[in-house]
Amino acid sequence: MHSCPPPYRPFRGADPPHFVDRTSEEEDLGTSGVVGNALEAYKHGPSDVRFHRLVASGPAMGKTALLRALCRQVQALLGWAAVLHRCRAKERAMGLVRTQVGARVSRQWGDARAGAGGFVDGDAAWSELKAVLEHCGRTASELGRGLLIALDDVDLLGAGEAEAFGYLARRLTLERLPVAFVMTCRPWLARRFERTGNFSGTVWTSALGPFDPGEAREAIVVPAVERGVEFEDRALELACAAACGSPLAVQRIGFASWAAASGRPSVGAAEVEEALAGQVDPPTSMAAAGLDGWFPIDRPALPLRSPGVSKHARPVFSSRAGVGQGPRELAAPAR
Ligand SMILES: Nc1ncnc2c1ncn2[C@@H]1O[C@H](COP(=O)(O)OP(=O)(O)OP(=O)(O)O)[C@@H](O)[C@H]1O
Ligand SMILES: [Mg+2]
Repeated sequence: MHSCPPPYRPFRGADPPHFVDRTSEEEDLGTSGVVGNALEAYKHGPSDVRFHRLVASGPAMGKTALLRALCRQVQALLGWAAVLHRCRAKERAMGLVRTQVGARVSRQWGDARAGAGGFVDGDAAWSELKAVLEHCGRTASELGRGLLIALDDVDLLGAGEAEAFGYLARRLTLERLPVAFVMTCRPWLARRFERTGNFSGTVWTSALGPFDPGEAREAIVVPAVERGVEFEDRALELACAAACGSPLAVQRIGFASWAAASGRPSVGAAEVEEALAGQVDPPTSMAAAGLDGWFPIDRPALPLRSPGVSKHARPVFSSRAGVGQGPRELAAPAR
């Protein structure tokens, strides 16, 4: 018997007990997942073509969890400062982000100038945020660090505001400042950006698809093993098949199966079946991913994913030199 409550987090926006760093079909570069590859890009600096990112997916596919994991890891592994802002419908995000950045940088690096001044709204907000980010970027550069601005659900912002963040990213890249943007959105916005081509040379787009079976197993097994609980093979098979690759369904099924096992050290097929019988809105197919018919790409052609090479054994991306996107990016006109 064990007395642990279920470690799984069956809610949207919840931090999972174990974050699975998913590889994405569109990621193409590197041997690790989206977070691992982003960290590599931050180490290379603003000249890396993946320095700024737009991550798109349908509902409940893990956008918020990814941003949380990325912010944690840039702070722990690279010593960067990170700000995570969850956008709300029609808010004036520029002023809010400016305040958050000032507070974070002055707290983390003792840079009082970054925190000076308050919320600025209206037409001045963009230039005010740009000035603060330039200042923080220079501070970060002197310290050999960087600053990550993570913006969740930018599709909720009013007309033009998400685009304005993209222009800002481009300006800071032109100045070679170590200030990286990572934004998440629903696929329609990524499609629109792709059509207009506004940031195709500056912002790297990734689609966050469903878990593959190995990733779903990892999300269930690791939190259990860490607490001395085992999922039997048949139970895992059932749980993963029923989740259809949805990270939220994995958390819900894991939670309910754990509860059904009521303290036994092993979760069997019967517990998973009991859990599945109680699910209110189980995913019906991979279409739950909201990625149907969408394949984002205005992307340099890369000699990757050759037949027979598993997605876990791709060549390592070492510098942007081989990618050939640089001159186009650097020559992009500033706003
Ligand atoms: N990489 C992951 N590894 C393990 N669990 C995950 C992962 N990503 C998401 N989850 C779990 O899936 C659920 C949904 O995740 P999250 O809320 O981040 O999705 P979302 O795309 O931000 O949803 P929304 O569309 O509501 O904003 C949460 O319970 C979260 O803990
Ligand atoms: Mg979210």
